[in-house]
Amino acid sequence: MTMTTGILALIILTVILLQVAVGALLLYFHSKGHYKKLDNPVDEAEPAQNTSTKATSTTAVSTITRSTTDEESYHPAEAAWKGFREFIVQRRVPEDSQHSVCSFYLAPTDGQPLPPFIPGQFLTFKLAISDTDQTKSVVRCYSLSDAPRSDYYRISVKRAQAPVGLPEIPAGLASSFLHDQVREGDTLQVRAPGGHFHLMEAEPLPIVLIGGGIGITPMLSMLNTLLENGTDREIWLYYGVCNGADQIMKEHLQTFADNHHNFHLYICYSAPLESDIEGIDYQHKGRVTLHLLRDTLKLMRYQFYVCGPKPMMESLVPGLQEWGVDSGDIYYESFGPASLIKHEQTQPSASAEPITVTFSESGKSIVWDVGAASLLEFAETNNIDVMSGCHAGSCGTCQTKVKSGEVEYTQQPDADVEPGHCLLCISTPRCDLTLEA
Ligand SMILES: Cc1cc2nc3c(=O)[nH]c(=O)nc-3n(C[C@H](O)[C@H](O)[C@H](O)COP(=O)(O)OP(=O)(O)OC[C@H]3O[C@@H](n4cnc5c(N)ncnc54)[C@H](O)[C@@H]3O)c2cc1C
Ligand code: FES
Repeated sequence: MTMTTGILALIILTVILLQVAVGALLLYFHSKGHYKKLDNPVDEAEPAQNTSTKATSTTAVSTITRSTTDEESYHPAEAAWKGFREFIVQRRVPEDSQHSVCSFYLAPTDGQPLPPFIPGQFLTFKLAISDTDQTKSVVRCYSLSDAPRSDYYRISVKRAQAPVGLPEIPAGLASSFLHDQVREGDTLQVRAPGGHFHLMEAEPLPIVLIGGGIGITPMLSMLNTLLENGTDREIWLYYGVCNGADQIMKEHLQTFADNHHNFHLYICYSAPLESDIEGIDYQHKGRVTLHLLRDTLKLMRYQFYVCGPKPMMESLVPGLQEWGVDSGDIYYESFGPASLIKHEQTQPSASAEPITVTFSESGKSIVWDVGAASLLEFAETNNIDVMSGCHAGSCGTCQTKVKSGEVEYTQQPDADVEPGHCLLCISTPRCDLTLEA
């Protein structure tokens, strides 16, 4: 009798253990189902040279931005103030040993508390830059690089050097002006925070922040906000730079890593200096690649935020999608011209009708060049007088009235677009078009 009860108990225990094991296996395969096995993931260290792969990648990227070509379905958020507001530079802080990145702490001259913003958003500046004989108005965008505070906004600006080996090309206009001429106590004209690349709080998933070079700035704002608010979300930060001389906010990031068990820091140096020590100064030698993400992240669902230079964006964003990450979980921003991430150029078929773009104020009708990245590039090439700033759909400077015809956006505009207008820098014509320019 005791023997029979013992056997029965053993059978029940075995059944329970089997059920638990099957449940655990199902859970494991469910989460693994989000990811695909990639034998040759796209590697940022060796970006694809093949143009057809590149084109496929850029198409994938365009799909990932929930971009809209339909103005009616785009509802811009209300700006915190209209037009430009005057700010004073309270403090300038060099952020790296080479002084190539400088942070500017900005407070409004009207003394009113600052409206909050969503971490990841940027400010738009109108800078009056004087040359020897004239003053130019230059518009540029800079991401907010700290958590929202009521007394100041912070931006961190990298000096844009002239391309290597081309000394005749001038260094970056706005960044050189900010670095060399804007001092503490000076004032700047600033538009309200804006932009659709920002932290998504609604779905509290674990977060992977990936910043390459100066693309770290929106990540800093997100990270500071999350950790200062005591989030219990898991956060991974992959920060790719050349070496210790280029890295910004080193102590700040290390202090976060030391004090927050839910924050995992991966500093990646592509070309470490002799003085940079692996395991202390940086965690990984090389760039931020899909290999690295696959090796270090657990198999689970994350929100990915990516901002960095062109090769990083072109490899990581489509690479993540290829890995099996849902495109709805990938958010990215590129600081460069919008044409870096654009639709695949559709080559016209032999029978396709050429498209004519008419610039009504200039009195010119020109056949659209299918190789042009945007209407802005097309207009500038044809000496049409149009205004521009960021070349990335962010500042709104190139907004132009569409008198007839339709345009197609290559990415979702970050700037607010008035009905019946388009942003030339991120649009191409769909059919014959007349623009008020
Ligand atoms: C949403 C958004 C957020 C951003 N956030 C940040 C940020 O947080 N921090 C930051 O530092 N930047 C950021 N940027 C980038 C920033 O807006 C500027 O684009 C950047 O500072 C360079 O502007 P610039 O006027 O200095 O350079 P530009 O004058 O625009 O020149 C850019 C580059 O082109 C080169 N160049 C100039 N003329 C020529 C020519 N004829 N041929 C070839 N090359 C030429 C210059 O030497 C320079 O390297 C952001 C951009 C966007 C759109
Ligand atoms: S130039 Fe900034 S939106 Fe087009």
